[in-house]
This record gives sequence, structure tokens and C-alpha cells, in this order.
Amino acid sequence: MAYACCALLLIAVQLVGLGRPSGLGRCPKHKYMQDFNITKFTGRWYEIERSFYLMELTSACIEIDLSENDRGQIDVSVSTIGRWSGSATVSRGVATTSKRHPSIFLFKVSTTLPNTVARFLPGAGFYQILDTDYEDFAVLWTCTSLGLAHTDLVWILGRSRELNVTTRANIYDYLLLRHIDSERLILSSNNCTLE
Ligand SMILES: *[C@@H]1O[C@H](CO)[C@@H](O)[C@H](O)[C@H]1NC(C)=O
Ligand SMILES: *[C@@H]1O[C@H](CO)[C@@H](O)[C@H](O)[C@H]1NC(C)=O
Ligand SMILES: *[C@@H]1O[C@H](CO)[C@@H](O)[C@H](O)[C@H]1NC(C)=O
Repeated sequence: MAYACCALLLIAVQLVGLGRPSGLGRCPKHKYMQDFNITKFTGRWYEIERSFYLMELTSACIEIDLSENDRGQIDVSVSTIGRWSGSATVSRGVATTSKRHPSIFLFKVSTTLPNTVARFLPGAGFYQILDTDYEDFAVLWTCTSLGLAHTDLVWILGRSRELNVTTRANIYDYLLLRHIDSERLILSSNNCTLE
């Protein structure tokens, strides 16, 4: 019974959150960031907002650590601290710069955690850094083609756990300019105090 309930919940989450097309046609192309410098982009980022709703993730604190490895790739570590469970989940992967542009990465997950939350963390695929000032904010975007439609996801990352109103308003303006619907964005919890 409990299992059936969870399975239903998962399906519902997939329908509401990730699987829903966000536009018709193929994935739109977004302008590449000029002079993107990966060295400056490495280090720690915190998730500020994301464009899909998942209760467990909304109440979690997500930290992303990026470091360059000696193979010229980026080691990625995504940590989640669930406020309710109080436990930390770590998902690791490797990102490789795309030949198309240095601001596009192919991300591969190397730990497959049997954890419902981990399944909804950034998964394998192409990610584009749409914009960043390296020191305060970053806008990360990914898109999957579903044939006649596509579904895209946006993350706003910050170097600190909170971004001030001015910065967020600027990011919203930027998204509007790129025709990315900021209405979909959901503020993540930035209270990472463990009880
Ligand atoms: C990228 O940033 C690093 C650190 O600030 C700097 O040392 C390097 O010269 C930059 N690379 C380019 C190509 O600008
Ligand atoms: C918001 O943060 C940015 C970047 O740190 C800073 O330049 C700006 O002055 C801040 N604005 C306010 C109103 O605090
Ligand atoms: C953060 O969460 C903790 C534990 O639930 C709570 O005690 C604390 O007051 C919260 N802080 C803020 C700023 O909301």
C-alpha cells in the first residue's frame, strides 16, 4: 500500500514537474556567453531557484561544488541537505566542455543513488551556463527535446545562500529577454540549519 502510494506520487511528480513540455518544437538556442572562463566558474554554488517543483527539494539545501581535474574536466559534487530528514545526499559526476562552446557541458552522473531525491537532481545531459558574473550569480539551463515539444529547466545559482532582490530582478529581466518563463521559478529554501 505504502509502496503503491509512493509510486503514484513519483508518477505525479514526473507529470507535474519534469515531463511536462515547456514549449512546442525543438529546444530553443540561447546565445552563448562571451569569454566564458571555467576556472572562474569553479568553486561552490548554492541553488537559489529552480524551475520545477518538488517538495523534498524545495525544503532541501543544495550545494554544488565544481573543480577542475587533471583530465581537463570538471568534477561535480551535488549535496542535498534535507531539512526534514536532516541527512546529506551527495551525487557526483563529471562535466566535459562541449566542442560547440566552452559554456556548454555534457554532464555524466557517476554515483547512482537509490534515492528518490537524487533522481531529481541535475541528471545526465547538456547544460548551458546562460549567464554568470562568477562572483554572485549564475543561470544554468538544460533542455530535452520530446519530439514535437521540448522541456527545459532553469536553475539560478548563487555564491552565497541568498541573492538580493536587485540581483534577482536583473536575472528575471534577463530571462524575459531570452523568452524563458521566470513564472515557473520556485525559490529554494536557504535555511540550511540542521535541527
Ligand atoms: C580564467 O580565469 C583565471 C582565474 O581568474 C585566469 O587565471 C585565466 O587567465 C583566465 N583565462 C582566460 C582564458 O582568460
Ligand atoms: C546586491 O548584490 C550585488 C552583488 O553582490 C551588489 O552589487 C548590490 O549592491 C546589492 N544590492 C543591494 C540592494 O543590496
Ligand atoms: C531555520 O530553521 C531552523 C530549524 O527549523 C529554525 O530554528 C530557524 O529559526 C530557521 N531560521 C530562519 C532564518 O528561518
